Amino acid sequence: MRRSYTIRLAPLGFWLTLTLATMKDQIDTLLSEQRRFPPPRAFAARAAATTALYDAGRDWKRFWEEQARALDWMSPWNRVLDWKPPHARWFVDGKLNAASNCLDRHIAGPRRNKAAIIWEGEPGDRRVLTYWDLAREVRRCANALKALGIRRGDRVAIYLPMIPEAVIAMLACARIGAVHSVVFGGFSAESLRDRINDAQAVAVITADGGYRRGQVLPLKRFADEALAHCPSVKHCIVVRRVGEEAFAAMEEGRDHWWHRLLQPVSTESEPEAMDSEDMLFILYTSGTTGKPKGIVHTTGGFLTHVAATTRYVFDLREEDVFWCTADIGWVTGHSYVVYGPLANGATVVMYEGAPDWPERDRFWSIVETYGVTVMYTAPTAIRAFMKWGPEHPSRHDLSTLRLLGTVGEPINPEAWIWYHEHIGGGRCPIVDTWWQTETGGIMITPLPGVTTTTPGSATVPFPGISAELVDANGKRLEKGGGFLTITQPWPGMLRTIYGDDERYQQTYWSRFPGRYFAGDGAKLDEAGYWWILGRVDDVLNVAGHRIGTMEVESALVDHPAVAEAAVVGRSHDLKGQALAAFVTLKDGKQASPGLKDDLKDHVVKKIGAIARPDDILFSADLPKTRSGKIMRRLLKDIAEGRTLGDTTTLADPAVVNRLKEMYEEKES
Ligand code: WTA
Repeated sequence: MRRSYTIRLAPLGFWLTLTLATMKDQIDTLLSEQRRFPPPRAFAARAAATTALYDAGRDWKRFWEEQARALDWMSPWNRVLDWKPPHARWFVDGKLNAASNCLDRHIAGPRRNKAAIIWEGEPGDRRVLTYWDLAREVRRCANALKALGIRRGDRVAIYLPMIPEAVIAMLACARIGAVHSVVFGGFSAESLRDRINDAQAVAVITADGGYRRGQVLPLKRFADEALAHCPSVKHCIVVRRVGEEAFAAMEEGRDHWWHRLLQPVSTESEPEAMDSEDMLFILYTSGTTGKPKGIVHTTGGFLTHVAATTRYVFDLREEDVFWCTADIGWVTGHSYVVYGPLANGATVVMYEGAPDWPERDRFWSIVETYGVTVMYTAPTAIRAFMKWGPEHPSRHDLSTLRLLGTVGEPINPEAWIWYHEHIGGGRCPIVDTWWQTETGGIMITPLPGVTTTTPGSATVPFPGISAELVDANGKRLEKGGGFLTITQPWPGMLRTIYGDDERYQQTYWSRFPGRYFAGDGAKLDEAGYWWILGRVDDVLNVAGHRIGTMEVESALVDHPAVAEAAVVGRSHDLKGQALAAFVTLKDGKQASPGLKDDLKDHVVKKIGAIARPDDILFSADLPKTRSGKIMRRLLKDIAEGRTLGDTTTLADPAVVNRLKEMYEEKES
């Protein structure tokens, strides 16, 4: 029998309904995981982290202060932390520049000629930028931005493929104190428009196009569509990546070719002395409403957090080649492609395209070619590699790898073991790292060389981070299933939601007073290890990407044929979760396979391809409570093919049975 218990929470009149039924099953499965992987002795002998780090982390303020000292400050802080819950100020009055921490201090020493970025484009083109090269490009770009009148505090949207210019643009903004807002290149023109307008960006940096599975993505054309509705934007800088195939007209006065704009510009530039609490970037992420939130990160705390976690979690040594496969459009790209590794003077690999283009061994050929030593990717990718078969990695020499990481979603033990055996050759520790756009950097993770790992568990909080499990009433639990909360401020924490501090307080700090609520369910086992179960709110995790159900619903009801829509997640073998949409049509509109495709395309146009619904089911009605609220829990049961839970509160219980029959017919 299905064990279903629904908990209703009412923070400030806002109802959040949680179904722990699927989680209960997950908890039972996870409990049976017995395999333990102690740190390999040879690895431990040379590891950056030791058990002493956990001891140091107990005095958390001093620990983070110690980590901040590893950065270059233009003037020191007066106090480590001002904490007026829920607002934190770290390294108060300290001054620094994030870009010069990533560049200038390295070129002043022996890293001058070290590769900073080893880049491979999807068509096979390559570029290597040394720290010296990167520093020069960043300075030129910084000067070009200044010459356009872009000033400290201005927001600049970056809408680029995974090309070195993306990193150059981010660091150039940081150098002059402009705030970057990177928008993932897979987002639609409308998503770009909304993000630009929310941040009131004054400039956009884009490319004519980018490559994805052999296709050209015409980014500048999308940007043009967006910019027709963005009055705040005065300048659009365009990198030529593709050429003729992605032709887009340039608008006189507004549009500038990157190569022309930068070409005559000097490399002389002084970095702005930024306050530790000055905004470094805004990054939009999905929440429980239709409107994405602009997560605000500041300079000193963010850089301290990502630099320290990169050093200890990825164990970076001078000779390492670090490859974090995330796109810079996501927080993982910000923290672990750009700021964390570059602050540590590491060599990073960047790849523009898809893992299966032109062949399914593309990643392994990259690892072999560049001698990648530390690799960080998402469980969704690992599950795809598993499905494609071990023959692809086995064709390549992966012996340079010494450490593997995962992020973005829970990793199922089978995928963990496969990664360990077929990619790590049984010798590489795996770090399963839990964190969020909001946390800025890694929060729960093993320390390689120190922590014994077990497949499926992110293990324990990073030193200086305090996580606690609570029940629905906010009561602390020593073990078992519940909600993951953070009890003390940490340097990389989001400072607010851009332009909406009320929403910041409401979203993260009101559900469990005095605690940061991450939105994730978790289990704490006897040994004190964390097992992350996934989101308990209306946020889905599809292939490691965060998507708000409300965003997709808004996109669907925007279509002229749609009256109402409800979107739920269902489990998916490869993507973790898939999107199932239940749609009622307006009077006179006919359901048809053609309309289904039309609706899917409409969502892609409104949001981007990552939000394309996997299933669409037309229905005359949606199951609602007597007060008119759509019962998503039942829809989820239907989409998951589970026995229906309690339907007694439904206004019309027949609706849901009809839907279930229809869904099953669709499946057969
Ligand atoms: C999920 C990505 C399980 C979680 C860095 C979180 C994970 C959301 C893990 C944040 C992990 C991230 N195990 N779940 N190791 N890492 N998540 O903001 O649900 O894109 O709340 O940040 O991803 O996604 P975001």
